[in-house]
Amino acid sequence: MRKVIVTGASGQLGKALIQAYEGDPQVELVALDHKDLAIEDLESVRQMFLREEPDVVINCAAYTNVDGCEENESQANRINGVGPRNLAIYCEKLNAKLIHISTDYVFDGCGSRPYREDDRPMPVSAYGRSKLVGEMYVANLCHRHFIIRTAWLYGEGKNFLNTMLRLSQTHDRISVVDDQVGCPTSTKELARMIRFLEPTEQYGLYHGVCRGQVSWAGFAREIFRLYGRDTEVIPITTEQYRQMNPRTAHRPSYSVLEDRMLALIFPEGMQGFCMKDWKEALEEFKKENK
Ligand SMILES: NC(=O)c1ccc[n+]([C@@H]2O[C@H](COP(=O)([O-])OP(=O)(O)OC[C@H]3O[C@@H](n4cnc5c(N)ncnc54)[C@H](OP(=O)(O)O)[C@@H]3O)[C@@H](O)[C@H]2O)c1
Repeated sequence: MRKVIVTGASGQLGKALIQAYEGDPQVELVALDHKDLAIEDLESVRQMFLREEPDVVINCAAYTNVDGCEENESQANRINGVGPRNLAIYCEKLNAKLIHISTDYVFDGCGSRPYREDDRPMPVSAYGRSKLVGEMYVANLCHRHFIIRTAWLYGEGKNFLNTMLRLSQTHDRISVVDDQVGCPTSTKELARMIRFLEPTEQYGLYHGVCRGQVSWAGFAREIFRLYGRDTEVIPITTEQYRQMNPRTAHRPSYSVLEDRMLALIFPEGMQGFCMKDWKEALEEFKKENK
């Protein structure tokens, strides 16, 4: 039996992880949401570790509002940088594993092929910078760490998919950015990957996204097709979007990730693990969330 703590448990990924572990007789899951534990508060983190003595911590807590981070970079750094540092310090002290979630936004998006784990991060936003700081602390302070960079997450909560579905109820046409390309990833698929890695000793940095790639406009079109909405998608450029919404943070234009380490360490067919294609994962999400 091992004790697994999930921080940020009421967020999209936290909820999917709770579902993924449900009924596992080998795991005692302790779900901590923001009011139970603010990860940037070292003393609260210390007390939590003394009380719970976890074997594993999965950190889903983060300041995920990309535009909000731009306006309040100190807060972004406290939550996304100092927070994981605090968890890393105590995981190391207790010899616990730390699974930390990071982002495609650590890259600048100027690449022309999918980013690999060994590509140089170069964030273009406060959010990306703060998440990179978090990665560095985790990698340097805790031996038994997994850092998983994911992207374009959707599940139960606030996300692009739910925004598109809501807007389609009141709009015949929606303008959507067509020159940012990435990997829409369901929280269920990412939770499946985390559950697969967690009991192993295969520590390190991973990319964890659904297979394939698409622009936000293409993603919106697929959502409307699948959900039978006749809302028209008007493709626009990032520049046009920023003219309409001048306070938006810069985002990488090409942030497709290649899950090379997963493929190298767990080759398909040999106890391997493979993330689903983004369209397949989206269909599955629709079926399960009527
Ligand atoms: N969403 C994406 O598209 C995306 C893409 C790439 C990477 N990621 C990464 O994936 C992870 C999970 O993202 P998500 O989409 O599940 O995020 P989410 O839905 O925004 O959930 C984040 C959770 O963290 C909690 N939280 C915020 N500040 C906290 C603090 N100081 N201490 C403790 N908890 C705090 C939030 O609680 P309150 O709401 O109550 O404050 C919320 O429950 C994050 O590390 C994120 O950076 C997300």
